[in-house]
Amino acid sequence: MKISKITLLTIIGLSVFTATGAFAQARDYDEWFGGNLMLVDLIDAEKGYCLDLEGYASITDTSRPVIVHSCKLGYWKDGTWRVNYPEEGQVYLPEYDLCLAAPALEDEAVVILEPCSGSQMQRFVFRDDGKIEIDSGTSNSLCLAVGEVSRATGNNLRRQTRFASCDDTSDTFTQWILPAEDAVYTDFEFTPLALLADAGQGGAGGPPIGNLFRGACAPCHGPAGDGLASEFAPKLTGQEDWYLSRQLTNFVSEFRGGHEGERWATQMSFHIADFTQAQLDSFVEHIGSLEDISAPVTIEGDIARGEQLYTGTCAACHGPEAMGDQGLGSPRLAGMADWYMVIQLDKFRNNLRGDKPQDIMGLQMALFAKSLPDEQALLDVTAYINTLAP
Ligand code: HEC
Ligand code: HEC
Repeated sequence: MKISKITLLTIIGLSVFTATGAFAQARDYDEWFGGNLMLVDLIDAEKGYCLDLEGYASITDTSRPVIVHSCKLGYWKDGTWRVNYPEEGQVYLPEYDLCLAAPALEDEAVVILEPCSGSQMQRFVFRDDGKIEIDSGTSNSLCLAVGEVSRATGNNLRRQTRFASCDDTSDTFTQWILPAEDAVYTDFEFTPLALLADAGQGGAGGPPIGNLFRGACAPCHGPAGDGLASEFAPKLTGQEDWYLSRQLTNFVSEFRGGHEGERWATQMSFHIADFTQAQLDSFVEHIGSLEDISAPVTIEGDIARGEQLYTGTCAACHGPEAMGDQGLGSPRLAGMADWYMVIQLDKFRNNLRGDKPQDIMGLQMALFAKSLPDEQALLDVTAYINTLAP
């Protein structure tokens, strides 16, 4: 089967258009007011911890101490905050017209809500290191902190909040990502985290985006991003950024995932569904900063036959060294996880990937996966790709 470069380029132009279209559609939020106030360190909560109230929806109890709860994206009466509003230094919950406050300037004081007033106990300093300190004007420096133990509520986790010594309490419990200060915006703003990362801030274990990657991606892809075969999650390091971005878009738009009888891509879609485009971009950037070591060889095949198949069918798009071709949208294969490539070829052949009419890149690849003569060819061609590992 042959395909001309001109046809391919037309196809690529089209696919970029459709892919972004689908993405915009998938993220159709209404405008909302304020945002999440999120702990930098995910600790044990996959989706992170965000400032929240007891109860949910209409049965929220504003008289009880404030808690943190697994983050949820979008507008929530009990989880959408503004900072420096109504006045400088205040943390405001628009839905209830209340302000965050300390009942007393005491270590381990609870965190409460009060009608906004001129009280000093509602005034905070948003420090450069991400800590939120009571602006008491005294040397007793207390910061907004979360408790050391978590409790599960259904699929989510929660912790108490407290005011604790800014200096003696671990960064893990005291560093926050503020909502953007704009009154109304259409999406969760990720800038404060990016700023923290630029400033080299964050607790033990590296800058905040690293923490987020460790919490959100590492359980499956490994802390080094080199993949965990036990989770069927591939090596990501060494893959080109444009390809990683496109695949994340494909999971969000469900080009990948959502197939009956297939659970891994569906799981992957589920785990990134709540992230914003800016966050997804940050993950890709973070992956680019991780060390790339060629994946171990785990499969066996007839390398000579594989070479014939590869040069005859695959090299035109993936390149003679299997390092990929951005112009054609084809990813790097050399040095990537061999078991994963075999699984993907199998999925392409069985309409579990590259089967959606708008997924033009995937459709193209599926055509060639289906052109492989037999199942053994999947192993043979991959065995040859293994010999190209840099
Ligand atoms: C629950 C486990 C799980 C979590 C959590 C997870 N992934 Fe995945 N990821 C997978 C699996 C499984 C696949 C392979 C899906 C398939 O077989 O189609 C995958 C595939 C991918 C791919 C496609 C790679 C390729 O070469 O096609 C990218 C990119 C990716 N994940 C990035 C991420 C990022 C970034 C995060 C964190 C925000 C993340 N994943 C979180 C399990 C997970
Ligand atoms: C017409 C160009 C073209 C040809 C020929 C082609 N591929 Fe691909 N391949 C692609 C594109 C484009 C993608 C990315 C699909 C997507 O975005 O989901 C891809 C994806 C893949 C993937 C998935 C990688 C990952 O990390 O998700 C594997 C494995 C792969 N190709 C192997 C092969 C093999 C082996 C051959 C030869 C039998 C081959 N390809 C032939 C264009 C091609």
